[in-house]
Amino acid sequence: MNAKSWVLITGSAHRLGREIALAFAKAGWSVLCHYRTSKDSAQRTQQEVQDAGADCLLVDIDLAQGNAAELLMDQCVQLTGQPPQCIINNASIFEADGAPSATAEGLQKHFQVNTATPLLLANALYNRLREVTDVPHGAHCVIHVLDQKVHNLNPDYFSYTVSKLALERSVALQAQALAPTVRVCGLSPGLMYLSGPQTQANFDKASLVNLVQKRIDPADVAQGALFMAQNASINGCTLRTDNGQHLIPLSRDVMWAIEEAAN
Ligand SMILES: NC(=O)c1ccc[n+]([C@@H]2O[C@H](COP(=O)([O-])OP(=O)(O)OC[C@H]3O[C@@H](n4cnc5c(N)ncnc54)[C@H](OP(=O)(O)O)[C@@H]3O)[C@@H](O)[C@H]2O)c1
Repeated sequence: MNAKSWVLITGSAHRLGREIALAFAKAGWSVLCHYRTSKDSAQRTQQEVQDAGADCLLVDIDLAQGNAAELLMDQCVQLTGQPPQCIINNASIFEADGAPSATAEGLQKHFQVNTATPLLLANALYNRLREVTDVPHGAHCVIHVLDQKVHNLNPDYFSYTVSKLALERSVALQAQALAPTVRVCGLSPGLMYLSGPQTQANFDKASLVNLVQKRIDPADVAQGALFMAQNASINGCTLRTDNGQHLIPLSRDVMWAIEEAAN
């Protein structure tokens, strides 16, 4: 691989984004580590990536802004002199609501960060590459991080789920529209980390609710992203890295299903 193949990973200060950064770094990629509020964690991830022998630069943008995608692409090109070869749209917000309690503000906030900015970031990459001649077909890739929820529906976390469903439906559409310049893929993890109002005791049980009955290893999920980025034959499809969690239907989010089973 070219020593200066840059991957931009949004929200990579910690948790899954950090794992993806380390996986790409160990495979020889240079990393653009994006963060918004977690500067200290981003600097620690930067150090870990550098310790793995890779370049790492930090970029800092609020993805809730309407023009975030263009601003972020500008920053990346200014820092590295080229558009990234791969973008991992990992950053997201995940706030609890239900279908009857959803608000315009909540729906729009989730849609902006989880759907619109990732799609526009893919477009920004496509538009930059169209200005360059001799872009090798298949080399550039955008991976939208989704959630097993979109393959295993229940109405909890309603605004979040709707935002990820729209992103999932867009994978094939964008792959068709941005071909042959940019490949577009999806990655659907299952429950990996304690989030929101979940307790540790609840997480310990909920994280085993998958076909393998083991906690999903985020490092395996990160390898899924790396595999799709490096395999030019994969386009327009979604890889489910969830220990088969999507094959266990629940009428509520697994967190609430565990709570209800305990009562
Ligand atoms: N956690 C799970 O178990 C799980 C399960 C299934 C799918 N997923 C998906 O996997 C991905 C990673 O999950 P995660 O739990 O590791 O993510 P996370 O920790 O909830 O969020 C990742 C980062 O997103 C960034 N972010 C949020 N709003 C932002 C904004 N307005 N502008 C810029 N950055 C923003 C935050 O950056 P700062 O901290 O720097 O502000 C945060 O660190 C997400 O797409 C998620 O939907 C996660």
